[in-house]
Amino acid sequence: MAERTTTPEREQWTGQYGFILAAIGSAVGLGNIWRFPGVAYENGGGAFLIPYLVALLTAGIPILLLDYSLGHRFRGSAPTVFRRLGKKFEPLGWFQVAISFVIATYYTVIIVWSLRYVGFSLDLAWGDDPGTFFIEDFLQYSGPGLSTDFVGGIFWPMLVLWLVVLVVLALGVQRGLERANKIFMPLLVILFAILVVRALFLDGAVEGLNEFFTPNWEALGDANVWIAAYSQIFFSLSIAFGIMITYSSYLKRRSNVAPTAYVVAFANSSFELLAGIGVFATLGFMAAQQGVAVGELENLTGPMLSFATFPQIVSAMPGGPIFGVLFFTSLALAGFTSLISILQVVSAAFQEKFGLSRVQVSLLIGGLAAVISLVLYSSTSGLAILDVVDKHTNEVGVVLSAVLTCVIVTLGARKLPELRAHLNAVSTGHVGRWWSLLVGVIVPIALVVMLVSSVLGLIEEPYEGYPRSFLAVAGWGVLGLMAVAALVYTLIPWRRPVDDFTPDPLPEEARR
Ligand code: ALA
Repeated sequence: MAERTTTPEREQWTGQYGFILAAIGSAVGLGNIWRFPGVAYENGGGAFLIPYLVALLTAGIPILLLDYSLGHRFRGSAPTVFRRLGKKFEPLGWFQVAISFVIATYYTVIIVWSLRYVGFSLDLAWGDDPGTFFIEDFLQYSGPGLSTDFVGGIFWPMLVLWLVVLVVLALGVQRGLERANKIFMPLLVILFAILVVRALFLDGAVEGLNEFFTPNWEALGDANVWIAAYSQIFFSLSIAFGIMITYSSYLKRRSNVAPTAYVVAFANSSFELLAGIGVFATLGFMAAQQGVAVGELENLTGPMLSFATFPQIVSAMPGGPIFGVLFFTSLALAGFTSLISILQVVSAAFQEKFGLSRVQVSLLIGGLAAVISLVLYSSTSGLAILDVVDKHTNEVGVVLSAVLTCVIVTLGARKLPELRAHLNAVSTGHVGRWWSLLVGVIVPIALVVMLVSSVLGLIEEPYEGYPRSFLAVAGWGVLGLMAVAALVYTLIPWRRPVDDFTPDPLPEEARR
């Protein structure tokens, strides 16, 4: 049997404020600024706000509470927590770690693009055709596949970013993660507020907002729109892939957990809507300049929205370079504070299972993530890989993980009443039975329906017309690897005690 080490004392946030800031830092990320406006536009514009809000209320907040209660009660990374629910549930913890690992590898490259675009904004380096500049000059995109040609302008900054991120992780929860959030989050809020206010005063802003808020009701009948809304909420709130479980496990035992979830969810969605408003006000300006309707503009979705259309606007507006610097700096800051949370999921899991120190995990596992990330995403085929991996990981992997979490907690381990009692014992305000009904019944059923439809859709029609062989490797292959990794890591024996754990006793009245 493998030799066991003793468990070092668990790291902690300095207090509730540090935790809230870090949780908002994690939630507000590329998902809010880079992903949301495009996803909303693609899925019915104003009508998307309906599935979005439904997803937030029915699944976002309930699963956020679930993640918090799991992490805070069972005090560990995702594999530790699921193991403590029952030995056979450990693979779900590792599946969540695998999702975070995969997301971290491509998340980094988008932050690097943003940082490079801060520089490009200064002299409008993208010239007259930012779309061609992004795809051909900057990314040197060679199409779907696995290219071994690397783009120096992406590779080197990415290497530096990985080093910085791994140092922050190695510094730990208080000195690394919390401190980074304390510096970057206030800065992000200030920059972003300036950006949105400026955008609202641009000519044509109202047309852009009309486009964003005008509902296309037909979209509500499309299952894909609902899937997009739920997976956007999961990605954006950092739930169902281990982040909030890990983060809440560093809260002191006496912490007011439930209201924190409402604050974080509200802050995140407010930021998301503001990002949508800012981006579409700006698009309205561009449409007015070109004398076309906003809907006729090209490249309003995916990476093109931020990295082709936005630069075009920056070039056209008075004070554009400053606007560009603000936008891309905001994107990089928001991304950085989320990236550290995504990687902490991986770091905490390896520390706990393998008895490694923070520095060892940063060097070994972080180093591996960095290599994979550099090889795949600084290459000339990185854009296609990113697109396919992001789609499959979020719309299949994360949704599956959310379903399994609900099912395991409710039926497998039968811990739902205990978790609700835990939330009520430590929180002001009462989490009622509505929560159990949502997490135990409604959310998993709804998610299964969506998951089936999403998987069938992806099988029937090749996503974005990519070759099937490419989708089989970058999409389904990566999902399969995550599942295999989950099983393999479960089979390896623990180097630190995990099972001799007793959760805090609960007062009887908390169960009401
Ligand atoms: N929650 C993070 C984001 O929105 C992952 O980007």
